[in-house]
Amino acid sequence: MTRTFLIDTDTASDDAVALIMALRAKEIRVEAITVVAGNVPVAQATSNALYTVELCGAEVPVYSGAEGPLLRKLSIADWFHGNDGLGDHGYKPSRKRAESSPAVDAMVNVVRCNPGIEIVTLGPLTNLAAALLRDPGMVESVKRCVVMGGAPCCVGNVTPAAEFNIWVDPEAARIVFHSGLPIEMVGWQLCRGDAVFGKQDIDRLLALRNPLAEFAIRSNSVALESFFRQTGETGISLPDPVCMGIALDPSLCASSGRHYVEIETHSELTRGMTVVDQLNVAGDPRNRDNWARAIDREPARVHVCWSLDVLRWKELLVSSLT
Ligand code: BDR
Ligand code: CA
Repeated sequence: MTRTFLIDTDTASDDAVALIMALRAKEIRVEAITVVAGNVPVAQATSNALYTVELCGAEVPVYSGAEGPLLRKLSIADWFHGNDGLGDHGYKPSRKRAESSPAVDAMVNVVRCNPGIEIVTLGPLTNLAAALLRDPGMVESVKRCVVMGGAPCCVGNVTPAAEFNIWVDPEAARIVFHSGLPIEMVGWQLCRGDAVFGKQDIDRLLALRNPLAEFAIRSNSVALESFFRQTGETGISLPDPVCMGIALDPSLCASSGRHYVEIETHSELTRGMTVVDQLNVAGDPRNRDNWARAIDREPARVHVCWSLDVLRWKELLVSSLT
């Protein structure tokens, strides 16, 4: 049976690989790709999304969205992905054009017209928060909302406390997490360690000798260096493809729990931190004041993915690029 996806992305190098996975999945119809500012400014991210769609030979509408967070100044991650987000190899812009309507309009329409839709977010949550502010009732049409974001174990990649997508626009993340959407949180920790695409994995992909596999590796060349500088780990880490893998096949999430989650929006030290109530103490009377907003909604708990079936995820990724 065909499943319908809406993908929101700040398209840079790992987003592009995640888009390829979805666009190549036979059982998935990608109804729309909406683009948000994050890794790179939204115009560049839109151009990267269009390039990726064209490379896949797909016909999917791409909608350009928010130019920056709801309340804050945009901070981009060109330091991680390269100036163009794709490793600065001079990819020629696609001939395809973005649709004329804004991403937020498209999100509301597409979700309302496709009950049971699955939303996958790969960037800051600005577009989705704006859509929810416009039409809070749209949550009823959404079967799953799989979010690449957060650091539930509290090892951040942009600050010690926070993961990039949530840190860029924490107010938007808070709106989304409080919206009642059935959220599945795929945190940054899942793309580290064994999940990193090391030399053997890279050689295996390059041996496929096809443009998609080549693009997946090459566009991540700057990200590979940045990840080494950041963590000391060697290889390509792919947070968005991990998220997309779990969106495509939920059984790739090897262990999970349902927890209340709050997003820090006040402190500068812990801005964008995803505070996970792992031991279920948020409902205690002593915590009620701080946690009321997270608890008093339905469904209140977020599905937090704690571990990944790395081998099967890598197989899925390789087969998407074959
Ligand atoms: C997330 O931030 C971006 O740099 C990646 O594309 C991914 O969505 C990882 O923290
Ligand atoms: Ca991303």
